[in-house]
Amino acid sequence: MTGRGTGAAALDTQDDEQYDATPFLPVRGGLPAHRRAAAGCRGCPLHRYASGTVFGRGPAHARLMLVGEQPGDHEDQEGKAFVGPAGRLLSRALREAGVDEEDAYLTNAVKHFKFTEDATRKRRIHKAPSLRETLACRPWLLAELRLVSPAVIVTLGATAGRALLGADFRVGTDRGVPRPLPGPDGEDGDGVQVLPTVHPSAVLRARDRKEMYEGLVADLRTAAGVLEDTAG
Ligand code: URA
Ligand code: SF4
Repeated sequence: MTGRGTGAAALDTQDDEQYDATPFLPVRGGLPAHRRAAAGCRGCPLHRYASGTVFGRGPAHARLMLVGEQPGDHEDQEGKAFVGPAGRLLSRALREAGVDEEDAYLTNAVKHFKFTEDATRKRRIHKAPSLRETLACRPWLLAELRLVSPAVIVTLGATAGRALLGADFRVGTDRGVPRPLPGPDGEDGDGVQVLPTVHPSAVLRARDRKEMYEGLVADLRTAAGVLEDTAG
């Protein structure tokens, strides 16, 4: 006996409402099968409000993977990752860092757009996903990782960093330094390197935009260097 009354048990049931994408993942298949299945994901409440799932895009066996936070307004409408203002800034930074965007797989930690509406309901305002939503969506990200099998991952911002490096990750102190991707039990995972950096949207919002942008470019150059090293 747990000694819990029915009231507490009922509350627990509500509290324990599963936030988890796992039941929606296909048991087999490559990226296309996963993309199709992700379109029907109801692993957390975010699917109720967004237009649709925004899955990753890029070469199926890219050696570089970039992980953002979640789709924005533009991405939600077009169903494609990084096509709005943050995506344009990222494209420019990648070019400047000497990385061919066409060679990279671009995705997000969370696959649905989370937002609030302003009073007039004319504008959808980005809202950061919670850790719970990020963890719910993580199976999709892990499946992309397994299927694409990149050598280097760049996490953009705090949410992506937390999704892959743990809840203690802090972008302010941890960015710019490559480290091994931790495996499921905390061990180093398969020699994959993670380079955390800032989110392009944070650059757009920054007071000192130029400095922050240059920091992003420098980190992307570091990632390109690590990628070259891993080429053997
Ligand atoms: N911000 C992100 O993190 N991802 C996108 O796809 C667009 C904006
Ligand atoms: Fe599923 Fe992720 Fe969308 Fe939540 S955000 S419904 S877990 S795809």
